[in-house]
Amino acid sequence: MSLVPGTVRPRRLRSTPALRRLVSEVRLHPTELILPMFVKEGLNEPLPLGGMPGVVQHTLDSLLEAAREALAAGVGGLMLFGIPEHKDEIGSQADDPDGILNRALSLLADEFGEDTVIMADLCLDEFTSHGHCGVLDSTGAVDNDATLERYASMAVAQARAGAHVLGLSGMMDGQVAYCREALDAAGFTDTVIMGYTAKYASAFYGPFREAVDSELKGDRKTYQQDPANGREAMRELGLDLAEGADVVMVKPGLPYLDVLAEVARESIVPVWTYQVSGEYAMIEFAAAAGAIDREKAIEESLIAFKRAGSDAILTYWATEVAQRLQVEAAGHMSDRDARG
Ligand code: PBG
Repeated sequence: MSLVPGTVRPRRLRSTPALRRLVSEVRLHPTELILPMFVKEGLNEPLPLGGMPGVVQHTLDSLLEAAREALAAGVGGLMLFGIPEHKDEIGSQADDPDGILNRALSLLADEFGEDTVIMADLCLDEFTSHGHCGVLDSTGAVDNDATLERYASMAVAQARAGAHVLGLSGMMDGQVAYCREALDAAGFTDTVIMGYTAKYASAFYGPFREAVDSELKGDRKTYQQDPANGREAMRELGLDLAEGADVVMVKPGLPYLDVLAEVARESIVPVWTYQVSGEYAMIEFAAAAGAIDREKAIEESLIAFKRAGSDAILTYWATEVAQRLQVEAAGHMSDRDARG
């Protein structure tokens, strides 16, 4: 008599690499990886980030070079963050056509046109002296509606510079509708809006603060969501869809897979995930300490997003993983050729 009850042996489908490949429910593809990139005004050389080994603040030249490399690997899109030399209370550089982010967008748009998808972070924290994602009122609180005016102006400037997708990451109420209206009024009806639908006030953004030279004091808890709240994500989803978001996002990634799965089940538009700076740092530093296998941990984390229902993933490893996927795809074919 069999020791396994009945004849059900799940291990059967795990028995060879080819079978495992065949029955895997999700797989990664370079096209659904989006590379976030930082470009800083006034740099002569790319500047490595201590909190994110392997990631740099780019000059315009190194940005272009890294973008070429990413696209050659088949990466699906580029998400740009700009760091201006001069920050002020209202983030004036954000909607200035000569501001670093808008110049970088124009550069990439001229170079690549419609060959890739160029995305811009639409938020003020990279541009304000106080580091908040919006402008402040006289009491020092983030003023939602005054911020919407700034976002609308940024949206038009970014669209004009050539961005195809705007990533509205500021978590102001009404930001999707407000920017949509401004874009349409300026004739940019085809500019895509990606709403950061569920964006949590997270400690996992830690290394990003260094990446954008943020001088934030305090926190973002009056506008980003409380990590304790899942239901709220569904409310935000309903609003973003009603306001006309073309894509929605859940962020951070791994600590919020439950939220991602639920948003993915309910959304009628594509759902993306942002594997944020702290998630990147955790794997890099754990691997550097010899605690985990770097490449396997990276792949497993990305697969988890796909399994939870994400259609595309923003990850600082986009180029590296896309390159590996290209090599693997070629490898399966040549194994077969070698066997003749
Ligand atoms: C806001 C923004 C942040 C990130 C992306 N867009 C920072 C924040 O909200 O505090 C974080 C990304 C990361 O940590 O990798 N402009």
